[in-house]
Amino acid sequence: MHVVTKTVALLLATACLALAQPAPVLRVDVARPVAEIQPTMWGVFFEDINFGADGGIYAEMVKNRSFEFFKPLMGWKVDGKKRTEGDVLVQNRGDEKSSNPRYLRVTTNGAVAGDLSLTNEGFRGMGIKKGLRYDFAVLYGYPSAGKVTMQLNLLNAQNEVIGTGTLSPDATASADRDGQWHKAQVSFTATATEPKGKLRIGLEGTGVIDLDMISLFPEDTWKGRPGGMRADMVQMLADLKPGFVRFPGGCIVEGHDLEQRYQWKKTLGPIEDRQLLINRWNFEFGHRPAPDYFQTFGLGFLEYFQLCEDIGAAPLPILNCGMACQFNTAELVPMSQIDPYVQDALDLIEFANGDVSTQWGKVRAGLGHPKPFNLKMMGVGNENWGPQYIERLAVFQKAIKAKYPDFKLICSSGTDPNGDRFDYLNGNLRAMNADLIDEHYYRRPEWFLQNVGRYDSYPRNGSKVFAGEWAAQSDDVAKPTNKNNWQCALSEAAFMTGLERNAAVVQMASYAPLFANADGWQWTPDLIWVDNLHVYGTPNYYVQQLYSRNKGTNVLSMTANGQALAGKDSLYASAAWDKAASEIILKMVNVSGKSVNRTVQLDGAKKLARTGTVMLLTNDKLDAVNSFENATAVSPVEQQIPVDSNKKTVAMMLAPRSLSVVRIKVTP
Ligand code: AHR
Repeated sequence: MHVVTKTVALLLATACLALAQPAPVLRVDVARPVAEIQPTMWGVFFEDINFGADGGIYAEMVKNRSFEFFKPLMGWKVDGKKRTEGDVLVQNRGDEKSSNPRYLRVTTNGAVAGDLSLTNEGFRGMGIKKGLRYDFAVLYGYPSAGKVTMQLNLLNAQNEVIGTGTLSPDATASADRDGQWHKAQVSFTATATEPKGKLRIGLEGTGVIDLDMISLFPEDTWKGRPGGMRADMVQMLADLKPGFVRFPGGCIVEGHDLEQRYQWKKTLGPIEDRQLLINRWNFEFGHRPAPDYFQTFGLGFLEYFQLCEDIGAAPLPILNCGMACQFNTAELVPMSQIDPYVQDALDLIEFANGDVSTQWGKVRAGLGHPKPFNLKMMGVGNENWGPQYIERLAVFQKAIKAKYPDFKLICSSGTDPNGDRFDYLNGNLRAMNADLIDEHYYRRPEWFLQNVGRYDSYPRNGSKVFAGEWAAQSDDVAKPTNKNNWQCALSEAAFMTGLERNAAVVQMASYAPLFANADGWQWTPDLIWVDNLHVYGTPNYYVQQLYSRNKGTNVLSMTANGQALAGKDSLYASAAWDKAASEIILKMVNVSGKSVNRTVQLDGAKKLARTGTVMLLTNDKLDAVNSFENATAVSPVEQQIPVDSNKKTVAMMLAPRSLSVVRIKVTP
């Protein structure tokens, strides 16, 4: 009894002491920035996964426009009241045009309306908007005399007509019967909005016509570029103000086998010459098969560079290193045959930066962009590993550094942030003096909280880190049950304080993957979700946006009792200085379910504004998500906060489960 009383008394005393102790003041040293934050710090990772490019940001609405899918008529329905045997034939001209061998030969035997039609289903339907212009185009040829008219109809899900155009490829001009291909186009306006539309092409008249590259684009592409990108999706990227865009992947760089690796040179020039490839995500996951997923490369390397230029992001291409995906065939190019791979890398630098008098600079100029793209870095290999990777990388490094000593190379540390594979690569890459080492972590939210200090102990000299692919998984990596919920986003926000604090080491970071089509995804979680008409950012998107738009130029030290705030009392924090804006930026994360008060002391600040701005991202439910119906359920709200400019303090009330980004102006 006596012992119990004593214990209770002791507990009470401890509790009172704890209550009596004031919460530690968070001290920010404004006068002494500790490291530079690179302009590239927060970027985006783009890969054609989840219908990110074809069926996504690349605004082409016709699926299998050139009949090159494994099943040549996949996505198409041939229909009509008066079909005759052989009226629609798939022709293959083989080596005559190996990049695009197939086309359709259609014979119309006096067909009138309703007799013969081709209907394309789009990428899980076509998103059609009332009042918007649609641009139809086709390559055609008449192998013999005849005249065929195309009646174009946009259809809604009930097969009602919601847009009409007519195209009569000229059959009278002899030039049209010269055995060559010609382009015909017509534009028309939709009369209704439809998320699951289709395009029907009625073929009427008498004659034989060859058809290829049947295409439909909306008028409202990004910057109104014909054959361009979905403006709403690009806008989401632009709104992030990313420091870089990594492209084109991801595993897609490696290919299932070497034959199917991504080859940038094949993605330039006329779209009908860009040789299609099966998308590796077509068959990667048995639980999410996508038999209609192919890469048309309508979004090719010039377009990627253009996108970066448009949104002010540094381009970061990743090239194949002579190894196919090690989860798939793991094919290796023999060392004796690696030169073309290395040459591709050297040529890419010349393509991006070379004077128009150089071989590849001239190609760029010929494609309409004489101005260089100012490429400064490139990745060699994606998730490649083992001595075979190091051996191949060394050849790239030697050749590229010999020609371009200041050009930065990003090197792979494999698939995981720890373990033998990582340790081997990390050790070897540092010994090779790699510029940047690409680390990937798809882990549970708890991992992100436990690893906020991951980079505190990394060497300040030598190789830097590119946190190239990461996302908190609510379930487990590559599980279809993963959700973009607030718990994941909050843990990422906390982790990012550790990245920012260690900007001397971590120079670039990107969440992955970027886009997912709600009807055609293979991998969750993803930063931005789209359907044919809409787009929304996840809570994770808003975390990325708050960091990216409030990046600052220098890290400031922010401590509680002399220590970085990295989990004590469920709090995480970092601070930055924005030189151009002359502002202090604080990022504070409270992962607990209780609100917490903290005073921040801004040591060394000269004159502070009397109010600061807080961008608050919070939700009391850890499983909260955004959706098409409620796109901004978890999104930042802006508030003003008083600053005690005499005491140089700001009193923060950190809401439960919140990220607060604070900006305070300092006047000289
Ligand atoms: O982001 C999805 C995939 O995850 C990437 O393609 C690959 O690099 C990683 O395994």
